[in-house]
Amino acid sequence: MDAKRNPYSPGAGIPPPTLVGRDAILDAARLALDRIGIGRPCKSFIAVGLRGVGKTVIINQAQQFAEDAGFQSIYIEAFDEIRLPDALTKALRPALLKLSKKDAVHDLTRRALAGLRNFASAFKVSFQGINIGVRGEEGLADTGDIVADLPDLLVAIGEAAKASNSALAIIIDEVQYLSETDMSALIMSIHRCNQKLLPVVLFGAGLPQLRGKMGDAKSYVERLFDFPNVDALSSEDARLALEKPANDEGVQYAPDALEEILRVTSCYPYFLQEWGHFAWLAARQSPITKDDVLKSHDLAISKLDQSFFRVRLDRMTPTERKYMRALAELGPGSHRSGDIAKKYGANVTSVAPLRSGLIAKGMIYSPAHGDTAFTVPLFDEFMRREMPNWPVR
Ligand SMILES: Nc1ncnc2c1ncn2[C@@H]1O[C@H](COP(=O)(O)OP(=O)(O)OP(=O)(O)O)[C@@H](O)[C@H]1O
Ligand SMILES: [Mg+2]
Repeated sequence: MDAKRNPYSPGAGIPPPTLVGRDAILDAARLALDRIGIGRPCKSFIAVGLRGVGKTVIINQAQQFAEDAGFQSIYIEAFDEIRLPDALTKALRPALLKLSKKDAVHDLTRRALAGLRNFASAFKVSFQGINIGVRGEEGLADTGDIVADLPDLLVAIGEAAKASNSALAIIIDEVQYLSETDMSALIMSIHRCNQKLLPVVLFGAGLPQLRGKMGDAKSYVERLFDFPNVDALSSEDARLALEKPANDEGVQYAPDALEEILRVTSCYPYFLQEWGHFAWLAARQSPITKDDVLKSHDLAISKLDQSFFRVRLDRMTPTERKYMRALAELGPGSHRSGDIAKKYGANVTSVAPLRSGLIAKGMIYSPAHGDTAFTVPLFDEFMRREMPNWPVR
């Protein structure tokens, strides 16, 4: 069918044509924004889930809600070895400048800018040619210890936002890459703002390993933040995600065509978009049939291998690949670390550093103590396709 009108949207963070199954979390974002708008405390959240389930789409939407409400928002995508003070300074500066335009001479906005300037200089943030342009205030966010400075800074910004009838939404993607210190600094900052009824909220997203990063602070943090789980869609929602965009173009699906897509994708959003895309291209006319879906199977798989799966493999060393292949040999789901080590051909202690390295890279996580699973859905099938020969030499 007409490629130009293909409605599906496979790709990182690309909004789906029909966003289904995420009402609860989007309502939570709206509610949090409504509450800070009237000076009430609110619950920030960090959405947790595997690769390709639609976490980025959710926090992008939450940012849009904040913008629609006329609030300031900043967006940070964390990465391995990110320097959070750098990223925050660069993101906060334009937001504060916008606030200061709204309210040109407000003392509190000037004070927040002074705090940002101190913060940037305490953390030696270098940004060429950019001048924050206000004199610092001694003692405000200037110790160089992020756990002390970030709460001061965000409180100062919260006070400025409140004084100009605005609010600040902090959106952070790939939260699992933040260090434990950065994470606790952020969490404490949000907590302080909440206690002072200041309009600052955080909407984050990350892989399941971020739960482990909260360490001892876990139970306290879980009272302050929600960690909604983002997972595969229900079959009903998955059908809707496929059918609605096609119907809007006057195209129907044969029921067994839909069921086949649901089966091969296990209702994971990214895969649904990819299969929908190729089934659309394979079909000559409406309805899209099971035969069209079967014809598009190899194309969808090879596109996913290239775009979604292999990029992860490229970041692994040969021994890491072997560990991943051993895990894949055990099939889908989570497996005991001892069983994986056995498959790998070594004892648990000697493969422990390998396992930790893969967790830090975001490839696997530990759903429960001593268990290990892929962070990418259907990665076991990919590993077996990619490395068909087992055991690896
Ligand atoms: N609720 C949904 N219904 C249908 N499709 C969706 C839904 N949410 C996301 N998608 C689609 O899934 C794909 C992946 O979305 P997104 O990039 O937000 O996932 P992610 O969880 O952030 O993945 P990653 O961990 O790799 O960053 C996109 O093509 C998007 O259009
Ligand atoms: Mg994402």
